[in-house]
Amino acid sequence: MFRCALLFVLSIGKSSTFYYDPQLYVPKYRDYLEAQGNLTRDLFKNYEKDVSPVYAWFDTTKPLGYDPDAPKRFNYTLFLYDLKLVEVDEPKEQVSVVLELMEYWYDPRLSWNASDYKNVTAIFTRQDKVWSPTLTPFGM
Ligand SMILES: *[C@@H]1O[C@H](CO)[C@@H](O)[C@H](O)[C@H]1NC(C)=O
Ligand SMILES: *[C@@H]1O[C@H](CO)[C@@H](O)[C@H](O)[C@H]1NC(C)=O
Ligand SMILES: *[C@@H]1O[C@H](CO)[C@@H](O)[C@H](O)[C@H]1NC(C)=O
Ligand SMILES: *[C@@H]1O[C@H](CO)[C@@H](O)[C@H](O)[C@H]1NC(C)=O
Repeated sequence: MFRCALLFVLSIGKSSTFYYDPQLYVPKYRDYLEAQGNLTRDLFKNYEKDVSPVYAWFDTTKPLGYDPDAPKRFNYTLFLYDLKLVEVDEPKEQVSVVLELMEYWYDPRLSWNASDYKNVTAIFTRQDKVWSPTLTPFGM
Protein backbone atom coordinates (compact mmCIF):
# COMPACT_ATOMS: atom_id res chain seq x y z
CA MET A 1 0.00 0.00 0.00
CA PHE A 2 2.70 2.47 1.00
CA ARG A 3 4.89 1.51 -1.96
CA CYS A 4 2.00 2.12 -4.33
CA ALA A 5 1.51 5.65 -3.03
CA LEU A 6 5.21 6.38 -3.29
CA LEU A 7 5.33 5.28 -6.92
CA PHE A 8 2.40 7.50 -7.71
CA VAL A 9 4.14 10.54 -6.21
CA LEU A 10 7.35 9.78 -8.07
CA SER A 11 5.62 9.45 -11.42
CA ILE A 12 3.98 12.87 -10.98
CA GLY A 13 7.25 14.47 -9.94
CA LYS A 14 8.94 13.19 -13.11
CA SER A 15 6.48 14.80 -15.55
CA SER A 16 6.92 18.37 -16.76
CA THR A 17 5.08 21.43 -15.43
CA PHE A 18 1.68 19.85 -15.75
CA TYR A 19 0.25 16.49 -16.60
CA TYR A 20 -0.42 16.32 -20.29
CA ASP A 21 -2.47 13.57 -21.85
CA PRO A 22 -3.51 14.56 -25.40
CA GLN A 23 -6.53 12.26 -25.09
CA LEU A 24 -7.93 14.20 -22.17
CA TYR A 25 -6.29 17.53 -22.55
CA VAL A 26 -6.46 18.94 -26.06
CA PRO A 27 -3.56 21.18 -27.16
CA LYS A 28 -5.87 24.10 -27.82
CA TYR A 29 -7.03 24.04 -24.22
CA ARG A 30 -3.43 23.84 -23.03
CA ASP A 31 -2.51 26.86 -25.20
CA TYR A 32 -5.45 28.77 -23.86
CA LEU A 33 -4.51 28.04 -20.25
CA GLU A 34 -0.94 29.11 -20.90
CA ALA A 35 -2.00 32.35 -22.61
CA GLN A 36 -4.47 33.03 -19.82
CA GLY A 37 -1.76 32.36 -17.24
CA ASN A 38 0.62 34.79 -18.96
CA LEU A 39 -2.07 37.41 -19.18
CA THR A 40 -3.10 37.04 -15.53
CA ARG A 41 0.55 37.24 -14.44
CA ASP A 42 1.15 40.43 -16.47
CA LEU A 43 -2.14 42.09 -15.53
CA PHE A 44 -1.72 41.65 -11.81
CA LYS A 45 2.05 42.25 -11.65
CA ASN A 46 1.64 45.91 -10.68
CA TYR A 47 -2.06 45.91 -9.92
CA GLU A 48 -3.07 47.37 -6.57
CA LYS A 49 -6.62 46.31 -5.72
CA ASP A 50 -6.94 48.92 -2.95
CA VAL A 51 -6.43 51.71 -5.46
CA SER A 52 -9.63 52.78 -7.15
CA PRO A 53 -9.79 53.54 -10.89
CA VAL A 54 -12.07 56.54 -10.26
CA TYR A 55 -10.49 59.72 -11.59
CA ALA A 56 -10.45 62.49 -9.00
CA TRP A 57 -8.06 65.02 -10.49
CA PHE A 58 -10.69 67.63 -11.02
CA ASP A 59 -11.74 71.01 -9.72
CA THR A 60 -15.13 70.71 -8.00
CA THR A 61 -15.81 74.44 -8.38
CA LYS A 62 -15.95 74.10 -12.17
CA PRO A 63 -18.82 72.63 -14.20
CA LEU A 64 -18.90 68.95 -15.06
CA GLY A 65 -16.81 68.02 -18.07
CA TYR A 66 -14.85 71.31 -18.10
CA ASP A 67 -11.57 69.48 -18.70
CA PRO A 68 -11.39 67.98 -22.20
CA ASP A 69 -8.27 65.98 -21.28
CA ALA A 70 -9.92 64.22 -18.36
CA PRO A 71 -11.77 60.91 -18.72
CA LYS A 72 -15.54 60.97 -18.85
CA ARG A 73 -17.54 60.57 -15.70
CA PHE A 74 -16.99 57.19 -13.99
CA ASN A 75 -19.57 54.89 -15.46
CA TYR A 76 -20.90 52.28 -13.11
CA THR A 77 -23.89 50.18 -14.09
CA LEU A 78 -25.82 47.92 -11.78
CA PHE A 79 -28.30 45.41 -13.14
CA LEU A 80 -30.87 43.56 -11.14
CA TYR A 81 -30.45 40.23 -12.81
CA ASP A 82 -32.70 38.04 -10.73
CA LEU A 83 -34.98 38.58 -7.78
CA LYS A 84 -36.43 35.66 -5.90
CA LEU A 85 -39.01 36.02 -3.16
CA VAL A 86 -38.14 33.40 -0.57
CA GLU A 87 -40.45 34.06 2.33
CA VAL A 88 -43.11 36.51 3.49
CA ASP A 89 -43.78 36.61 7.20
CA GLU A 90 -46.86 38.78 7.66
CA PRO A 91 -47.07 38.97 11.49
CA LYS A 92 -43.39 39.99 11.70
CA GLU A 93 -43.67 42.20 8.59
CA GLN A 94 -40.58 40.54 7.13
CA VAL A 95 -39.79 39.58 3.56
CA SER A 96 -36.78 37.50 2.50
CA VAL A 97 -35.45 37.84 -1.01
CA VAL A 98 -32.46 36.57 -2.95
CA LEU A 99 -30.96 39.16 -5.28
CA GLU A 100 -28.60 38.51 -8.13
CA LEU A 101 -26.83 41.66 -9.25
CA MET A 102 -24.53 42.35 -12.14
CA GLU A 103 -22.06 45.21 -12.02
CA TYR A 104 -20.21 46.88 -14.86
CA TRP A 105 -17.38 49.37 -14.66
CA TYR A 106 -14.23 50.22 -16.55
CA ASP A 107 -10.77 49.82 -15.03
CA PRO A 108 -8.08 50.78 -17.57
CA ARG A 109 -5.44 48.87 -15.61
CA LEU A 110 -7.19 45.66 -16.53
CA SER A 111 -7.05 46.15 -20.29
CA TRP A 112 -4.71 44.41 -22.69
CA ASN A 113 -3.96 43.87 -26.33
CA ALA A 114 -5.51 40.50 -27.17
CA SER A 115 -3.06 39.85 -30.01
CA ASP A 116 -0.25 39.70 -27.42
CA TYR A 117 -2.08 36.85 -25.67
CA LYS A 118 -3.18 34.57 -28.48
CA ASN A 119 -6.48 36.43 -28.89
CA VAL A 120 -7.64 35.87 -25.33
CA THR A 121 -10.29 38.58 -24.93
CA ALA A 122 -11.77 37.60 -21.56
CA ILE A 123 -10.61 35.83 -18.42
CA PHE A 124 -12.23 34.64 -15.24
CA THR A 125 -10.60 35.56 -11.97
CA ARG A 126 -11.41 35.86 -8.28
CA GLN A 127 -13.36 38.86 -7.11
CA ASP A 128 -10.94 39.47 -4.23
CA LYS A 129 -8.11 40.06 -6.72
CA VAL A 130 -9.67 43.20 -8.24
CA TRP A 131 -10.94 46.52 -7.01
CA SER A 132 -14.74 46.60 -7.02
CA PRO A 133 -17.32 49.10 -5.81
CA THR A 134 -18.58 48.35 -2.30
CA LEU A 135 -22.19 47.22 -2.18
CA THR A 136 -23.84 47.29 1.22
CA PRO A 137 -27.52 46.57 1.89
CA PHE A 138 -29.16 49.11 4.15
CA GLY A 139 -32.66 50.14 5.21
CA MET A 140 -33.60 46.48 5.40
C1 LIG B 1 3.90 32.72 -21.99
O1 LIG B 1 5.07 33.44 -21.62
C2 LIG B 1 6.27 32.76 -21.85
C3 LIG B 1 7.42 33.64 -21.40
O2 LIG B 1 7.14 34.23 -20.18
C4 LIG B 1 6.42 32.47 -23.35
O3 LIG B 1 7.60 31.74 -23.58
C5 LIG B 1 5.21 31.68 -23.83
O4 LIG B 1 5.28 31.50 -25.22
C6 LIG B 1 3.92 32.40 -23.48
N1 LIG B 1 2.80 31.56 -23.85
C7 LIG B 1 1.78 31.99 -24.56
C8 LIG B 1 0.72 30.98 -24.87
O5 LIG B 1 1.68 33.14 -24.97
C1 LIG C 1 -22.17 53.12 -19.33
O1 LIG C 1 -22.11 51.71 -19.38
C2 LIG C 1 -23.30 51.12 -19.88
C3 LIG C 1 -23.16 49.63 -19.74
O2 LIG C 1 -21.90 49.18 -20.11
C4 LIG C 1 -23.52 51.56 -21.32
O3 LIG C 1 -24.70 51.00 -21.81
C5 LIG C 1 -23.61 53.08 -21.34
O4 LIG C 1 -23.71 53.52 -22.67
C6 LIG C 1 -22.40 53.70 -20.69
N1 LIG C 1 -22.61 55.13 -20.59
C7 LIG C 1 -21.66 56.00 -20.87
C8 LIG C 1 -22.05 57.44 -20.69
O5 LIG C 1 -20.56 55.68 -21.26
C1 LIG D 1 -1.76 45.09 -30.55
O1 LIG D 1 -0.54 44.41 -30.83
C2 LIG D 1 -0.34 44.18 -32.22
C3 LIG D 1 0.90 43.31 -32.37
O2 LIG D 1 1.85 43.61 -31.40
C4 LIG D 1 -0.20 45.51 -32.94
O3 LIG D 1 -0.05 45.30 -34.31
C5 LIG D 1 -1.49 46.33 -32.71
O4 LIG D 1 -1.34 47.61 -33.28
C6 LIG D 1 -1.74 46.46 -31.21
N1 LIG D 1 -3.05 47.09 -31.03
C7 LIG D 1 -3.20 48.12 -30.21
C8 LIG D 1 -4.59 48.65 -30.11
O5 LIG D 1 -2.28 48.63 -29.58
C1 LIG E 1 -5.98 36.15 -33.74
O1 LIG E 1 -7.03 36.71 -34.54
C2 LIG E 1 -6.57 37.20 -35.78
C3 LIG E 1 -7.73 37.91 -36.47
O2 LIG E 1 -8.95 37.32 -36.14
C4 LIG E 1 -6.01 36.04 -36.61
O3 LIG E 1 -5.51 36.54 -37.84
C5 LIG E 1 -4.86 35.39 -35.83
O4 LIG E 1 -4.38 34.25 -36.54
C6 LIG E 1 -5.32 34.96 -34.45
N1 LIG E 1 -4.17 34.49 -33.69
C7 LIG E 1 -4.16 33.38 -32.96
C8 LIG E 1 -2.90 33.07 -32.22
O5 LIG E 1 -5.15 32.66 -32.85
